[in-house]
Amino acid sequence: MKNNKNLKVAIVMGSQSDYKTMKLAEKVLKNLGIKFETKIISAHRTPKRMYEFARSARKNNFGVIIAGAGGSAHLPGMISALTTVPVLGVPIESKKLKGLDSLLSIAQMPKGIPVGTLAIGEDGAINAALLSASIIANNNSNIKKKLENWRLAQTKSVKKRPK
Ligand code: RP5
Repeated sequence: MKNNKNLKVAIVMGSQSDYKTMKLAEKVLKNLGIKFETKIISAHRTPKRMYEFARSARKNNFGVIIAGAGGSAHLPGMISALTTVPVLGVPIESKKLKGLDSLLSIAQMPKGIPVGTLAIGEDGAINAALLSASIIANNNSNIKKKLENWRLAQTKSVKKRPK
């Protein structure tokens, strides 16, 4: 297995208000010892910031980008259009439509520019981090071992009988 221990994960989100969801992705990555950087990047409010981040993502050693967005959630798709680094989209639970708008905006990318879409809200943020770990583990045997141990601990935590 080829090792690249320098690959990091980027966690980006459209607004400060997304952070209460996206910080759960940070927690998982910290737990697994995966390097990450967290940024607020909005496709419509800070398009220049989005462009510059996405165009330099591979050069900056990001192996995966987790992008959380709510409402008409174009951030993950726009970033994916600008880089070949894999993008995982987390649909943020919106106030009016409970995140269904975010989910459909992220999942229904037309063919040609993919975004791997996770569940709405906290489960999605956690699974995005775990999926990032799986991708990083392809080139990092240390992370692969940590991820295997994490799964083992999860399995062991499930009791055989309810109390
Ligand atoms: C999106 O608009 C963000 O991703 C956020 O989920 C949503 C609402 O943003 P705020 O009005 O809370 O800044 O761009």
